[in-house]
Amino acid sequence: MEKLEQIYEGKAKKVFKTDDPEVFIVDYKDDATAFNGLKKGTIVGKGSVNNRMTNMMMQLLESRGVPTHFIKELSDRETAVKKVEIVKLEVIIRNIAAGSFSKRYGVAEGTPLRCSTIEFSLKDDALGDPLINDYHAVALGVTTWEELETIKTLAFKINDVMKEFFLSVGVTLVDFKLEFGKTSDGTIVLADEISPDTCRFWDVKTGEKLDKDRFRRDLGDPEGAYQEMMRRLSEKL
Ligand code: TMP
Ligand code: ASP
Repeated sequence: MEKLEQIYEGKAKKVFKTDDPEVFIVDYKDDATAFNGLKKGTIVGKGSVNNRMTNMMMQLLESRGVPTHFIKELSDRETAVKKVEIVKLEVIIRNIAAGSFSKRYGVAEGTPLRCSTIEFSLKDDALGDPLINDYHAVALGVTTWEELETIKTLAFKINDVMKEFFLSVGVTLVDFKLEFGKTSDGTIVLADEISPDTCRFWDVKTGEKLDKDRFRRDLGDPEGAYQEMMRRLSEKL
């Protein structure tokens, strides 16, 4: 498969065309941003951890019946994925109160939620990814009711699979963000990444944060947290 011209560069990844019109190559960077790009930095080795963790998770999810865009890991940082049109929604699942949920609703971080929750943000950097509800998403033409139902069902299933998996490596899955895409035939599949950039991971025993909050909140040694997550995952291979 030949890597052709770059079609997109985001904050954490670049996307390239290939000689197959249905296949893109994603290339993960070490660049880290927070607060909609206001804070910038580098987490050495992040690109490789995020690429490999995402691919492990996508393969696990595929084995449990969740369709994903994953095709093949090409290198430490590069992966071939199905060409999709990204649904302009950030889908956030929460099991424990943290981050913007704690702030918005005045709930102490670490408070267990009585049920897992889902929320949506409109994927629009210029607007700061505002929170939207189901009706807004459909009214704005971001998705259809049918697609939204599929997305919700898949998101909670992903939560079930991931919660169990991370618990098996001593990690509490606090919350995470997903993105979905539509393939050429209209199928909704999981896209983007599943990594310490997009999930909150807390050590079960100590509560230590093993995710990008170490960078967002200047807690020190984000590299160590990413490597520790990868070390735990590698033990499961
Ligand atoms: P939040 O508490 O800041 O809303 O974050 C919820 C989850 O979403 C958390 O696991 C981090 C992830 N996330 C992203 O993946 N991208 C983002 O731009 C933001 C703000 C959060
Ligand atoms: N995606 C965020 C940004 O816009 C970073 C984050 O908080 O994850 O920089």
